[in-house]
Amino acid sequence: MVKEDFEITDAPKIIVAIDGYSSSGKSTMARELAKRVGYIYIDSGAMYRAVTLFALRHSLFKADGKVDTDKLLPLLPNLNVSFQASASQDGVQHTLLNGEDVEKEIRTMEVSNHVSPIAEIPEVRHRMVELQQRFGQEKGVVMDGRDIGTTVFPHAELKIFVTAGLHERARRRWRELQHKGLDIRFEEVLENLGKRDRIDTTRKVSPLKKADDAITLANDAITHEEQMEWLIKLFQDTVEKIENGSRD
Ligand code: DC
Repeated sequence: MVKEDFEITDAPKIIVAIDGYSSSGKSTMARELAKRVGYIYIDSGAMYRAVTLFALRHSLFKADGKVDTDKLLPLLPNLNVSFQASASQDGVQHTLLNGEDVEKEIRTMEVSNHVSPIAEIPEVRHRMVELQQRFGQEKGVVMDGRDIGTTVFPHAELKIFVTAGLHERARRRWRELQHKGLDIRFEEVLENLGKRDRIDTTRKVSPLKKADDAITLANDAITHEEQMEWLIKLFQDTVEKIENGSRD
């Protein structure tokens, strides 16, 4: 049972790293946990998507789909990605690219189809990791992605690795896109996810991989509520252990 009287304000702040496959539901989990415990939520995938949008806007993709790194790399130090609460008060945090709200643009299939080659570039990862670590300086952060528990915050106090089968994830993603009014075939979503899984798990720099000390959550067959109850209990136990100085 989740303890209702859990005192969040006085408790020590921790870093929660939630990694996993595309569309495994980790962002929803991470966002909701952050809201429930009063932490900052950082969607690291949105950051790679924002860089992808930047590259698309500046025509930095070559005809063969590869990135023109000669042009992109010098621009990286001045590229900033940040987050802000939505002005429309829809409760959704918005992603800013050099101060511009790009939340909607970064969720398109065009960006999804171009993000993997961007996320493979070591210099891009280096820049994003630098920004992500800054967000975690004061702790009190829930961050989701692919390499949060392994590379960004290897000392995070709580690490979760979320998995679900490819078809189940494609179904969820397709429904989400339909809900947003995007007319897209299920097969296209399935193919995109399968391709991203392959690239995410096999790339040379920071591939998607469970950290040795991460706890696996396979969420194919559990409800959102069950998942959240499990996560919040785990969070409370982790904080309490630290508070009692008994963490081993
Ligand atoms: O979580 P997402 O699907 O919005 O992420 C978009 C892409 O960014 C995904 O294909 C993999 C990449 N990514 C990454 O390489 N490292 C992260 N920490 C987060 C996302």
